[in-house]
Amino acid sequence: MIIDTHKDEVLLLSYFQHCIDEVSSDSFLVGYAQEKKVHSFQVVGAGNYIMKHESIFHSQDEDFLRCAKLAYLFHDIGRFEEIELRFKNPDKRYDHSLLSYEILKSYPQYSRPEILLSVKHHGHMIEALYDDEDYQALAGSPLQDKVKKIAFLVRDADKIANFYLLHRALEKNDKAILRLFFYDLPPMLPTEKALSQYLSSQMVDINRTNVADTLLNYYSWIYDLNYKSSFDFCSRNGTFKDMRKLASFYISDDIIAQKVEKQFLSSISSQ
Ligand SMILES: [Fe+2]
Repeated sequence: MIIDTHKDEVLLLSYFQHCIDEVSSDSFLVGYAQEKKVHSFQVVGAGNYIMKHESIFHSQDEDFLRCAKLAYLFHDIGRFEEIELRFKNPDKRYDHSLLSYEILKSYPQYSRPEILLSVKHHGHMIEALYDDEDYQALAGSPLQDKVKKIAFLVRDADKIANFYLLHRALEKNDKAILRLFFYDLPPMLPTEKALSQYLSSQMVDINRTNVADTLLNYYSWIYDLNYKSSFDFCSRNGTFKDMRKLASFYISDDIIAQKVEKQFLSSISSQ
């Protein structure tokens, strides 16, 4: 594989610029796209951080590191297309992970299972990766193990970069960024399904129409962290304090908010 990081970044930025040109009349979407551009580079930084602090990655070869870095950089390339599609059809929802996968698949130099599969499922439950027939076709091979390691890295790096963004936004009371986390919406009651998923230590499905479910989805990310250094990063970064504070902002019932907070504390102490 030829290493040319600059070309990779230029490609990502060309999708970003195309998006900005398309949605320039919508200041929220322009800001959202700009934030997602910054996020892509932060995920590269977060992924490198994890690899540096986890000894299992110290002996990985150049090819592994290169694939991991490409997966970090491009995991959200489909976000820019999603934003364009949302601009044209505001009521429709699109799966940006799949859009990223489709884009990367069209470039032979990025069409490798290590990159494609970890990008394709970064925003899904991990079971989606395990059920993917392309992943299953690699059963028992060293390549499948490599795919899994890189997929785990992308998932952790994506989450800790988002937790970091939320922390900085709360610190600075940055309303534009907080809006990306639905902070401007009134608190609600979580749905029964989301609450029971959360209280039984399962990942909570994304539900963009219910802000309390959204919070439970963020909380449940903790269940999905794969590496100790990701967890330690969140702990040092004040993420856990942030998350506790948010319960009363997002959940309209005090008793439920307390129950959720208690579960959150037990989930972080058992990590
Ligand atoms: Fe994403």
